[in-house]
Amino acid sequence: MQGILEAGNILKNDGLVAFPTETVYGLGGNALDEKAAEKIYMAKGRPSDNPLIVHIADFSAIEKIVKSVPERAKKLADAFWPGPLTMIFEKSELVPYGTTGGLETVAVRMPNHPIALELIRAGGGYVAAPSANKSGRPSPTLASHVEEDLSGRIDMILDGGPVGIGLESTIVDFTDEIPTILRPGYINQEMLEEVIGPVQMDKALMHVDASVAPKAPGMKYRHYAPEAELVVVVGHPADVQTRIRQLAKEKVQAGYRVGIIATDESAKEYPVGIVKSIGTREQEETIAQHLFAVLREFDDNKVDFIYSEAFYTPQIGQAIMNRLLKAAGQHKIEV
Ligand code: TXA
Ligand code: MG
Repeated sequence: MQGILEAGNILKNDGLVAFPTETVYGLGGNALDEKAAEKIYMAKGRPSDNPLIVHIADFSAIEKIVKSVPERAKKLADAFWPGPLTMIFEKSELVPYGTTGGLETVAVRMPNHPIALELIRAGGGYVAAPSANKSGRPSPTLASHVEEDLSGRIDMILDGGPVGIGLESTIVDFTDEIPTILRPGYINQEMLEEVIGPVQMDKALMHVDASVAPKAPGMKYRHYAPEAELVVVVGHPADVQTRIRQLAKEKVQAGYRVGIIATDESAKEYPVGIVKSIGTREQEETIAQHLFAVLREFDDNKVDFIYSEAFYTPQIGQAIMNRLLKAAGQHKIEV
């Protein structure tokens, strides 16, 4: 691809390049230089205690940045890399604390996207990259989202079109006895357990309890927050639709602008409000793909309230609901 060499040189000189991956767009900088990490935090407006994921393009590259790779992690790498999986290990001395937010551990991922892989190789092999959004906004799934948030604050954006998955990678921590999922993603617990046996969920993901601090520092922030008040309605589809219709009608009568997150199947059931279909329940991938874009669109529409159906779909449902409920500040109504 045109521009990759230039982009690689920018990274080598501690500049910042946004690039597509199969999950979401990333904001890349040289992972082995503290100055680049600092620039990333500045550009995103992100707290610098929130560690970055180091992206590699070849498995052999991992040796230099971690103390050791457990056997089970090798198996997961064999099964899922390149792909939407991030693994956490004890870091080596080569990785600066600026990249790991002061932690002794480092998160590593090999993304499954040709542009990302080429860029990592061109940039020296180790690219630190958070999602390329302004801190607190939904992760970018299109190059235009990156431009909206970071234009003028970074050196280059590589446009690879829409991403495939639309939700950030699954994070598995290997520094505990039992591997622990810190952030759910496209690769779910069952898929991991098929390869390596028992895997646990971080307690902070199970109970939404403020007293249990999440182990991934980034999971504690209110992420992906739309400007409107977002409420998720959970229950049997017919009841959910009835309640959303009711809520939308009340708010519109009171003079507010209302958005509704529906599906291809249900969109016609809502006569009042700005109704957006997020995808089809027949294909859960489409729901994951469009979640962040729909939240951004509602910001543009300047709605005051958003009511969303729930999407507890078989494979990706846990990840979808994790992001949606976070965006809602955990505000849900059960019917
Ligand atoms: O799909 C993805 O993972 C995307 C693409 C660009 O690769 N990247 C991404 O990065 O989502 P970011 O920075 O938005 O999210 C990284 C998450 C944060 O919640 C952070 O706290 C956690 O990973 N994390 C990173 N290093 C960690 C570590 N050493 N220990 C615990 N959590 C860590
Ligand atoms: Mg992020």
